[in-house]
Amino acid sequence: MKAIVISIGGSVLFSEDIDISFFNQLIVLLKKSSKKNKIFIVVGGGKTARTYIKLGRELNFNEKTLDEIGIKITRINAEILARILKISNKDIPFTTKEAKDIDKPIVVMGGTTPGHSTDMVGAELAEKTHADKYIIATNVDGIYDKDPNKYSDAKKLIKVSIKKLIEKYGANWSSAGKNIVIDGPALEIIQRAKIPTFVVNGKKLDQLEKVITNQKFNGSTIKL
Ligand code: UTP
Repeated sequence: MKAIVISIGGSVLFSEDIDISFFNQLIVLLKKSSKKNKIFIVVGGGKTARTYIKLGRELNFNEKTLDEIGIKITRINAEILARILKISNKDIPFTTKEAKDIDKPIVVMGGTTPGHSTDMVGAELAEKTHADKYIIATNVDGIYDKDPNKYSDAKKLIKVSIKKLIEKYGANWSSAGKNIVIDGPALEIIQRAKIPTFVVNGKKLDQLEKVITNQKFNGSTIKL
């Protein structure tokens, strides 16, 4: 059974208003998908992580500490998803190696070490599990030429080359809590390991299902 790795932004799972029906529908989709593929999910920190990181930064905590705070929040978010999934691991692994070796239809994890975001954890896991594809489920409809939350004329890039993304964003980690679509260290792994990578709005479960099932979807495909 081929693996699919899905990185789900914390902001997708945990929005301002608690949306139980979204959780229920997501769970139905993930369970259905796990019948054909082994599913690995990496959960992000979302607004809670950013709030704590902002507080820590104002208190002059160093970058490593800020990353560690972010990691802890991603692990709490992962635990919440794991608890409601039932057919997944309950204890959240600390490394991608540990996650790879868990014998469950769905494996859930959060962040691992400082210096990158959960995007990179997902890419690392996709490389280790020789995944069929890596899906980044974020809170916008794909990769844009500029931030669509700030610029109304931002254009979505339906296909974008990994080389162009690295030229634009670099392959380095910038700083804790920085909300960019894909972080540099993740881009580097995607390029090196040639991982088929897709970016989709995780709130739109019909679109997420289309990516999982290899149908035409509304989002971005990274050309390798
Ligand atoms: P996220 O992966 O959620 O970052 O991790 P993000 O891209 O800011 O947020 P989403 O995608 O909208 O959810 C939150 C923070 O935790 C630290 C980083 O500081 C990151 O910004 N982190 C996370 C790590 O240092 N290492 C990890 O493996 C994961």
